[in-house]
Amino acid sequence: MSFPWIEHFPMLTQTMNGKRLAYLDSAATALKPTAVVTAMSNYLLKHTSNVHRGIYRLSEENTSAYEVVRDQTAAFINSPERETVIFTKGTTDGINAVAASWGRTHLKSGDEILITDLEHHANIVPWQMVAQATGAKVVSVPLTADHQIDLAAFHKLLTPKTKMLAMTMVSNTLGVITPVQEMISAAKKVGATVLLDAAQAAPHFPIDVQALRCDFLVFSGHKVFGPNGVGILWGKKELLEAMPPYQGGGNMISTVSIENGTTWNKLPEKFEAGTPVIAEVLGFGAALTFVKSVGWQEIENQDHSLKAAATEALLKIPGVRIFGEKPNKVATFGFEVAGIHPQDLGSVLDKEGVAIRTGHHCTQPLMARCGVSAMARASFGPYNTTEDIQQMASAIEKARRLFL
Ligand code: ALA
Repeated sequence: MSFPWIEHFPMLTQTMNGKRLAYLDSAATALKPTAVVTAMSNYLLKHTSNVHRGIYRLSEENTSAYEVVRDQTAAFINSPERETVIFTKGTTDGINAVAASWGRTHLKSGDEILITDLEHHANIVPWQMVAQATGAKVVSVPLTADHQIDLAAFHKLLTPKTKMLAMTMVSNTLGVITPVQEMISAAKKVGATVLLDAAQAAPHFPIDVQALRCDFLVFSGHKVFGPNGVGILWGKKELLEAMPPYQGGGNMISTVSIENGTTWNKLPEKFEAGTPVIAEVLGFGAALTFVKSVGWQEIENQDHSLKAAATEALLKIPGVRIFGEKPNKVATFGFEVAGIHPQDLGSVLDKEGVAIRTGHHCTQPLMARCGVSAMARASFGPYNTTEDIQQMASAIEKARRLFL
């Protein structure tokens, strides 16, 4: 670790239940650096105004600052244009927008939407809803016995009927990385449109929408050290331009007439109805600046070394089984401890100051494929340390002494 993480994250010095806090739930939401909170509080306490609506100085300054974050985001994902970056509420909102707008105008009976068994409910349910409305069918790529995408099955399921391939880049539950390059190349050959859920990828490695050759990409600010309530929908310009808006209201219009109806604003405003979450967008901009100042090298090095150390520590404990243990993953571990229910494990860990998520992780189909109804998940951010891993391992040992 060469970056002074602890100086930027006050949460790292908190205690919980009288113990040092080991926060191992970054896949649910990442900790926030001070710079993010400062950007938000400056706006909220000293510089409040709406954006895109006033000609007074405060409003113009906030509009510029808000639009700078769009430029930052375009650079973050290597988008060729700034106007194809849409601010949303988060990943779920972005997928719902594409499903509702693109899905309802492009899908019909006989078409197929291909997803995978790794998906979060946010990348299953919106497609089921649009399938119900259009007569299209949702088909899912199964996993191999070691919880990787079954590429042989994928190539069989991908056919000219596949109109949309919607998949996560990284499993929120297992940390397994999807082989998106191979899958996107194959999808392009059958003319399918591709949506990538980058919610769990964006905090771990750089994203390049041009190199990926995807059509849509979504992620959430709060998993990339930013605030909750802001996310990104990126799409190819020709697709976004052809899509109808999915929400109506202020800012997304060009003209409104009771007699003659409404015409839409241009991109990106067409998809940003109503007053946006200004403080959150500014906080997200501070998070992107923070990521840039840390550098991907440091973030990826941390992820690799925490992944190796946590794998070793977990597997040393008798009865621990990691689901999706192959190295092609990020430092997120879905695991079980034989004989201990995940909720009981989570409660013991909590008392020891270790915060993990337990349950189905919004991935019930994946739970079914793993043959469990719930599991424990420890997910690491680059600010975690080997001390956190030791604290987790000792707490799991304690749970074993208590329950077995
Ligand atoms: N999607 C988030 C998680 O995996 C909330 O925990």
